[in-house]
Order: sequence, then C-alpha cells, then structure tokens
Amino acid sequence: MQSMIPDYLAEVLAAVESDTSGELAGYIPELAAADPERLGAAFATVDGEVYGAGDIDTEFTIQSISKPFTYALALSDRGFDPVLAKVGVEPSGEAFNEISLERDTGRPRNPMINAGAITTHSLAGAADLNAAERVARVVEGLSAFAGRRLRVDEAVCASEMEHAHRNLAIAHMLRSHDILTEDPRAVVDGYIRQCSVLVTARDLAMMAATLANRGVNPVSGERVIREPVVRQVLSVMATCGMYDAAGDWATQVGIPAKSGVAGGLIGALPGQIGMATFSPRLDVHGNSVRGVSLFERFSADMGLHVM
Ligand code: DON
Repeated sequence: MQSMIPDYLAEVLAAVESDTSGELAGYIPELAAADPERLGAAFATVDGEVYGAGDIDTEFTIQSISKPFTYALALSDRGFDPVLAKVGVEPSGEAFNEISLERDTGRPRNPMINAGAITTHSLAGAADLNAAERVARVVEGLSAFAGRRLRVDEAVCASEMEHAHRNLAIAHMLRSHDILTEDPRAVVDGYIRQCSVLVTARDLAMMAATLANRGVNPVSGERVIREPVVRQVLSVMATCGMYDAAGDWATQVGIPAKSGVAGGLIGALPGQIGMATFSPRLDVHGNSVRGVSLFERFSADMGLHVM
C-alpha cells in the first residue's frame, strides 16, 4: 500500500499542474522573483517514512508556516498563561496582515495572523534573551521540528525588511498596548528572520509529522514539544491556520493546516501523517492555489476530513 504513495502524488501533481491562476507575493520583491512553476508534494508518516513527488528538495522560505511552530516554542518556553495573556485563540475573519487586535485588551486575536506571530516571536525563549539570541532560539527550534539544521535566506529577509511598514505599524500598535515590551523594530526584524528560514517540502512534511507524532520528531526521536502544546497548536491551526479562508478549508479539506506566502502549505493528521505542498502562486487570501487544490484532493481521495 505505502509504495503506491509516490505514484499517487505524481498523479495528483499532474492533475493540478495546468492551473496557473494566482499571483506571486508581490509585497516581498525577492518572492516576486521566484519560479512560479515549481510544484511538489511530500508526506512523512509518524514512522519516519517520507514519500514525495515533484520539487520536494527545492528550498524556499517558510514564511507564515513558521507561526504554529514558534507559537509552540513560546508555549513551551514561557508556559501557557503568559502566552495566552498576550495572544488570543479566536479566528479573526480578516486578512493575515490586518491589525486584528481585541478592542479591550489589545491582544492579537490569534497567533497565526501577523499581529499574533510578531507577539509570539517575542515570547520564544527565556524572557532575558536579546534579539539575536531569540532568533537563534527560534531557528534552533524550527530545526528540531525538521530534524536538520535550517538557515536564514538573508536576501529574502533584507528584501522583506525594506518593505515592512505594515508589520512595523502593527508592532508599534502592540507596543502601545504593552503586548510587546521591547523595541518594535527589533521584534519585527526577528520575526522576519524567522519567516526567512529556508525549508523544502520534505522538511515541512517532517515538521508537520512531528506535530502528528505528538511532538516527537519521527526520525531523530527528539521530543520537541509536549503533548498539551501539540494539542493547542493543532487547534489554532484548525481554526485560524488558513486566515479568512479557514471556514472554506474546514469544510472542504478538514485538516489542521498552515500556509505561507512563499507557496508552502502543511497539514497534520494526528497519529498518522504530516503533509506538505509547494507551489508559489497565491490566491487572494495568501494561500497557495495549487496547494489548496492538492489538499482538497488528498482529503477527498483518502477520506482525511477530521474536523
Ligand atoms: O509577515 C509577512 O507578511 C510574511 N513574512 C509572512 C506572511 C505569510 O506567509 C502569510 N501567509 N500565507
């Protein structure tokens, strides 16, 4: 049965290949220069087997797919209460780059939108870390999920930082509410470095498989996070991971998931499998067009709808 997976993946990639709709992420110049034709899909099982087809070893930046994992690191490093005091768990129903703060508390609505993720970046690692040490903690943590040492794409990072006015504006709002307690520019710089970590679809499948395997990387055997943290992360992925398309996703795919503007998309099925796709053209929500189609097929073909 399992040996049929690569054939299946090649078949579904062929089925979506002709769809050239969607646009590259124009607001980050380096991403707008990416090859839009790239297409790949990988599955990693909780037993540590990896299956793939297409461009599964091409590196691209993780972008917002870093958000659930950094949320996990913040929950692990600081505990639930301090993190929940600063970031909510309700879907915003708004675009990923809207301010979306709660009116009374100033808390970002959830950790999957930029406002929430800028905040969780500031909560990763011990409270007394400086900005560079915090980035190091995040890159090391993302690497533990992937089971290999990951690195930052400096060109993408610099390119996004030059055009980061929106994230800087959000961070200043967060600072005014004392949700951020540090220099907003330093936090945004660290958050953008986090988003610029290079991964492949194979890495993303393994990171998702670590969530599916209840926090233990299936190949390295390392326990990266505890089970209560896994549950919290999968819950917010299920309700908020696809932004203002979260409802469509829940009904049509029904798998906890997260997208990124470089074209990556992950899904995690607890106890079974981590899945990842890569295709750079995005829909209006910032989710990969062909990635969404692939996941719709995975869900329908294998009866994976769990939500
Ligand atoms: O902060 C940003 O806008 C980007 N670094 C990440 C956004 C993103 O990936 C949204 N997802 N689909």
